Amino acid sequence: MSRILITGAGGLVGRASIEHCLANGDEVVSYDHQSLDIGDAERVETVVANQLPDAVINCAAWTDVDGCESDPAKAERVNAAGPENLARACRYAGAVFVTISTDYVFDGAKVGFYTQRDQPRPLSVYGRFKLEGERRSMAEHARTIVVRSGYIFGPGGRNFLSTVIDRARRGENLKAITDCWGTPTYARDLAARLRELAELDLPGVFHVVSEGDGANFETFTRKALKLARCEQAIVEPVSMDSLSRPAPRPRNSKMKCLLSAAIGLRPLPHWQEGLADFVTRIDHEQGQNRGIAV
Ligand SMILES: NC(=O)c1ccc[n+]([C@@H]2O[C@H](COP(=O)([O-])OP(=O)(O)OC[C@H]3O[C@@H](n4cnc5c(N)ncnc54)[C@H](OP(=O)(O)O)[C@@H]3O)[C@@H](O)[C@H]2O)c1
Repeated sequence: MSRILITGAGGLVGRASIEHCLANGDEVVSYDHQSLDIGDAERVETVVANQLPDAVINCAAWTDVDGCESDPAKAERVNAAGPENLARACRYAGAVFVTISTDYVFDGAKVGFYTQRDQPRPLSVYGRFKLEGERRSMAEHARTIVVRSGYIFGPGGRNFLSTVIDRARRGENLKAITDCWGTPTYARDLAARLRELAELDLPGVFHVVSEGDGANFETFTRKALKLARCEQAIVEPVSMDSLSRPAPRPRNSKMKCLLSAAIGLRPLPHWQEGLADFVTRIDHEQGQNRGIAV
């Protein structure tokens, strides 16, 4: 790869992608929400035409799952029209297009792992428009790679785990959902795979998750707390329904990929390895903030 345009640069995966591509010697042009609204078709076309990237990696999305439920028009504009606009601009510019989708395209009724052979049936507005974004971008540009992922965690963004560790360190009690399973995915490993897929330029739908049997939030939380030396924190197991959130979520959204191994891609590292790296990085950051040598 040489020149890569990354959208959603201020987000969790966006930041990890920029860091990874720069570390691999790519020329990176990145846009956060303020500098490029992916729902603005004209602006997207102008930016991509001016930058002439070899690849565009779309990390931008409206990820507020409950917010999407009450504003479907905005969800459609960002999560469906956004990738479609980028895909069209990539077609005009001759760039490969990689866009991230979600495990929430599935309804969660399956026992076991979802693969590309499973029919999506989103339960939420967020899931519905993410699926629409997949379909519209593939229809718009043949060189589109859709990467479904889920339960993403990592340094430098808003995410469930950093909040959990911060709160435990402040001595607060925590709640963790026990009846909802997914495949945790480390943002830094996902970022590496996004770049690898862009380089391969093989269109299709990929499921990209960290290795492992999957986990529920309670397991995930307890492992993180142990690594962060906060085992004493009180974790109250709760059911998904007890939280009465506006958007329904799949109870099971564990995923596996049928294509990755077939084309010779190695599995991503286990999510527990990612978790250990993540906690080390949080400790390092917090140590630096307190002026401690780490
Ligand atoms: N996090 C997960 O567990 C998870 C699971 C499955 C799939 N995904 C997918 O993974 C991708 C990356 O998500 P993430 O976890 O990195 O989420 P994130 O941290 O919320 O990042 C998304 C970024 O997109 C930006 N954005 C929102 N609307 C935009 C617009 N109209 N134009 C341009 N940028 C816009 C946001 O900026 P503002 O915050 O300033 O609005 C934010 O910086 C998304 O496609 C998401 O659907 C995430």
